[in-house]
Amino acid sequence: MIYLDNNATTALEPEVLDEMMPWLGGTPGNPSSIHSFGQETRRAIDRARTRVARFIGAQPEELVFTSGGTEADNLALFGAVAASGTTTPHVVTTIIEHQAVINPCRHIEKAGGVVAWAPIDANGLIRPEDTIALFKDDTLLVSVMLANNDIGTIQPVRELSNATRERGILLHTDAVQAAGKIEIDVKKLGVDLLSLSAHKLYGPKGVGILYVRKGIRLKPLVFGGHQERGLRPGTENVAGIVGFGKACEIAGARLAADAARMETMRSAFETAICERIAGTTINGLNAPRLPNTSNLSFEGIDGEALVINLDLMGLAASTGAACSSAENEPSHVLAAMGRSPAEARSSVRFSFGRHNAEEDVARAIELVAQTVQQLRECRQ
Ligand SMILES: Cc1ncc(COP(=O)(O)O)c(C=O)c1O
Repeated sequence: MIYLDNNATTALEPEVLDEMMPWLGGTPGNPSSIHSFGQETRRAIDRARTRVARFIGAQPEELVFTSGGTEADNLALFGAVAASGTTTPHVVTTIIEHQAVINPCRHIEKAGGVVAWAPIDANGLIRPEDTIALFKDDTLLVSVMLANNDIGTIQPVRELSNATRERGILLHTDAVQAAGKIEIDVKKLGVDLLSLSAHKLYGPKGVGILYVRKGIRLKPLVFGGHQERGLRPGTENVAGIVGFGKACEIAGARLAADAARMETMRSAFETAICERIAGTTINGLNAPRLPNTSNLSFEGIDGEALVINLDLMGLAASTGAACSSAENEPSHVLAAMGRSPAEARSSVRFSFGRHNAEEDVARAIELVAQTVQQLRECRQ
């Protein structure tokens, strides 16, 4: 099997597993215990916190470990709303966010808040000036993803931060897909809150962080003990956190090399596919894109049928975000770019990763070209 669905999740790096193993079996320590078992476990968490913080240019004490990107996004949005004390918050976001931001925003709307949804252009990008035009005097929070999971477009988050800082508005970015593919530096971005998930960068599933800039006040979503400064109580997922730390250390060290390799593979793939398959469109082509993501529309093809047939041939790809592809709805991102429902349904996302080999690219090109041709012949 060739795996070109690295935006859905990545394989756990063996070195990461090695660091996790002692915490999965053997060592019994609860990091809150004062005996030496507990203190050793606390030190492992502190080391991981430092590694993750370094990866995004933050201070260790600015991180809150969560169960993943979804919880981090929820904590950013609901935590900020709860801390503000208002029951009718004004929030600005984009129509291409992941469900982990869209659905909390819908909940905020239902609870009496107002959400302004920034549009994107045909290239899959928000326009900073249009987004800033949505700010109101009472806007509490702006949430704009750093990179889109479906098409890989990199949003101009940094260009919003002067406007949010001047007006005292919180700026959150979901950087889950950007991690390990482009540099992330919370200071350069000028964000107050940032979400990451370990399983998108060769770490374990079920662990993430919310970066909370020093001085920013949030309220927790769950209540219990004092862990994570009371913002995320509950005994820590020690093995997961340790694995996340190691994954960030590796991703930081390999970032430039990984990105260059993935971009080379993606570029060879897109060039050959466009040459061989008439009626192919590269979605997001004219925007800054993640180096690994290729979202292609094939005229007259049903994307889901293509994904199923490719799977049978030994190539794993996707019609979009794993959590919404089960719903068989055309991508809301492509719809927001102005694509017709038929065009959106004809799209497939191929996402390259660190472990793809050059031979994978040649084989993938062959399989996609053959399968598209077969599906087109079946229609005639
Ligand atoms: C942009 C984005 N945000 C959030 C998430 C959710 O992260 P997790 O799977 O860790 O809950 C994902 C996962 O697909 C994502 O792509």
